[in-house]
Amino acid sequence: MERRTKVIAIANQKGGVGKTTTVVNLAAALSARKRAVLVVDLDPQAHATLGLGLEKTPGISMYPVLLGEKQIADVIQPTKWNNLNVIPSEVDLAGAELEFSMREDRLDMIRSALAPVKESGAFDYIIIDCPPSLGIVMTSALVAADGVLIPIQAEFLAMDGLALITGSIDRIRASANPNLELNGIVFTMVNSQAKLTQDVIAEVRGHFDDKAYETLIPRNVRVSEAPSMGTPVVFLDPRSKGAEAYKAFAWEFMAKNPTRFDVAKAPAPAPAPAPAEQPAPEATAENVAAAEAVATDNGQPTGDAPSNS
Ligand SMILES: Nc1ncnc2c1ncn2[C@@H]1O[C@H](COP(=O)(O)OP(=O)(O)O)[C@@H](O)[C@H]1O
Ligand SMILES: [Mg+2]
Repeated sequence: MERRTKVIAIANQKGGVGKTTTVVNLAAALSARKRAVLVVDLDPQAHATLGLGLEKTPGISMYPVLLGEKQIADVIQPTKWNNLNVIPSEVDLAGAELEFSMREDRLDMIRSALAPVKESGAFDYIIIDCPPSLGIVMTSALVAADGVLIPIQAEFLAMDGLALITGSIDRIRASANPNLELNGIVFTMVNSQAKLTQDVIAEVRGHFDDKAYETLIPRNVRVSEAPSMGTPVVFLDPRSKGAEAYKAFAWEFMAKNPTRFDVAKAPAPAPAPAPAEQPAPEATAENVAAAEAVATDNGQPTGDAPSNS
C-alpha cells in the first residue's frame, strides 16, 4: 500500500528566495483544507517557527532528537490552528553542521528521526524548511524527503542556482535516497510587469516543463508583514493577493500530491437509480483503509470542493 505521509523538503541553497514564506503558507493553506500538516523547521533562524506564532524554546527542536536526548513526539508542538503542527527550531541547530559532520549516520539522521512520525500516518504532509546552504542539515533533510519543492525568484542567473540544487538532488538520488523526486519549482515574489521575469519563467518552464508549478506567487506587501504578526498571510489577510496565490498554489500542490482524502473520495458510490438492487460497496482493503483514515482525521468532515475563497 502506498505510504500515506508525504515528506516534502522546501529547499534552495540561496537565502531570501521565499522558502520559509512558502513553508508557512503552503502548510497553512493545506491545514485549512483539513490536511494534517507537520512543519519541521530546520533553519536555526527559526523564521518558520516564529511565522507560525511559536517562540524559540531551548530543547524544543529536532536538535535534542538528533542527539537521542528526546523522543520526536515530545517536540511536536500544536499551533493556534487546527491540523497545523510544528517542530520548532532553536539556535542550537546552528552548531549542528559542524557537530554532526563527524557522525557516521549523518545522512540518515533526519530520516531516522522522522520515521516513527511518518510511519504513524498521523500527518498527510511533513513539510521541512531547510537552511540556506548545501550542508549536512539540508542534505540529510533531502535524504529524509519524498520530494523537494524549490522556490525561486525569477531573476537573472536563476537557472544557475537551480542547476546547483538539482545537481544535489541527482547526487542524493544516486546514493542515499533513490526515491527522491523533484516535486516542483514555484516562482515567488513575481513581478509580472517585468520582461526579465517573464523571460526567466519561460526559460525555467522550457527546461523543467510541468515540474514548474502554474501558480505564480506575486510580490505582495501583506506577505512580508505577516511574519511579524506570527500569523500566516493566508489566515491574516485571506483576500490579499499573496494569500490568494498561496491558496491556489496549495490546490495545485494537493492535486499533484494526493493524500488519503483523495484516495478516500475515489470509491464513493455514485447516486444509484435503483438503491434496493445495489449491492453493498465492496469492503476492499483499500476502501476500508481509506474510510478509517478519514474517520480518524480529527473527526472533521472531508468536504473540500474547490472554491474561490
Ligand atoms: N510574495 C512575497 N511578497 C513580498 N515579500 C515576500 C514574499 N515572499 C517572501 N517575502 C519576503 O522576502 C523575505 C525572504 O523570504 P523568506 O521566505 O524568508 O526566504 P528564505 O526562507 O528563502 O530565506 C522575507 O522578508 C519575506 O517576508
Ligand atoms: Mg528561510
